[in-house]
Amino acid sequence: MSELATQLEELRRRFGNAVAGAPDEAGLEQVRIAYLGRNGEVTQVRRTIGRLPAHERPAAGKSINDAVGAMEAELQTAQARLESLTFQSELAESIDVTFPAIPAGAGSLNPVRRVIDDACTYFRRHGFAVVVGDEIESDYNNFDALNIPSDHPAREGFDSFWITATLLLRPHTSPVQIRTMQQHRPPIAIVAPGKCFRRDAVDARHLFQFHQIEGLLVAQGIHFGHLKGMLAEMCRELFGAQQSVRFRPSYFPFTEPSAEVDTTCPKCGGEGASCSMCGGSGWIELGGAGMVHPSVLREVGYDPDIYSGWAFGFGVERLALARYEVDDIRRFINGDPNFLEQLA
Ligand code: PHE
Repeated sequence: MSELATQLEELRRRFGNAVAGAPDEAGLEQVRIAYLGRNGEVTQVRRTIGRLPAHERPAAGKSINDAVGAMEAELQTAQARLESLTFQSELAESIDVTFPAIPAGAGSLNPVRRVIDDACTYFRRHGFAVVVGDEIESDYNNFDALNIPSDHPAREGFDSFWITATLLLRPHTSPVQIRTMQQHRPPIAIVAPGKCFRRDAVDARHLFQFHQIEGLLVAQGIHFGHLKGMLAEMCRELFGAQQSVRFRPSYFPFTEPSAEVDTTCPKCGGEGASCSMCGGSGWIELGGAGMVHPSVLREVGYDPDIYSGWAFGFGVERLALARYEVDDIRRFINGDPNFLEQLA
């Protein structure tokens, strides 16, 4: 065996021992540098080639290269083994399966949803069914059947988004009255919460998409007192026992008589003065109400001489603003979790 071969063999043996003894990846890197680095042992051996006779040099170069190839392969195997060892020990160390988990954050309902839920709960308890209509309505359900023919000025007041000449995004939930009465015979007792749309400029008090909750009761012998009782009780349920309700004469084509319904401002308790919530009046306006107009009953095939009914339509955001004493309606939709959590 040539001197070089013996030398390489001895070197590889030491290298093998060193690799096997490297405790970790850093140790292995030390071994690599010592043997295969720029000034490592292999380089020292290569330098001796120059002292050989010219004809022996190619074979010598080749055996050194072969040795280097084998050593590099050995390094790689060791590297993989150490990496997996490191990984195993990291796993064992850093995952403490007995450590308490990070609690899952519980979300909270939007105040608008809570008002809807609570109002529906109140009416359900009194035997009302909760129904939902369609957000896209026909002009018939939305206007004509509600005693608002196409030339009626009340149409203007609704500032609707029209989809076609006869379809629109409903600007109020009152068409659900028509849908329900067309499908059922009296007695009828429903509430219908849902989205409404109007071409309103957005500000602290207006959104172009908002919610209403509609109520409708039709049976024999229903009168305005029933309406007052149900709404006063609803306000006490939503706002507290001290709540008063006030009815102001108003006009809607689909109710007669009609009223605008107010409840005590929850912020100032009706004091008024410089209250920012109610503008000093002591009252918060909830929406419209009244006795179902005989023309509406006739339109759905009910005999107004036998049946009478009441209806109301309240703005849910209005109720929520007052209930949670919120200053800006836009807060309900800008998705700030801190705001929602505060009210939860
Ligand atoms: N639909 C009316 C509105 O949005 C409110 C209303 C409903 C009035 C039911 C009376 C009866 O303005």
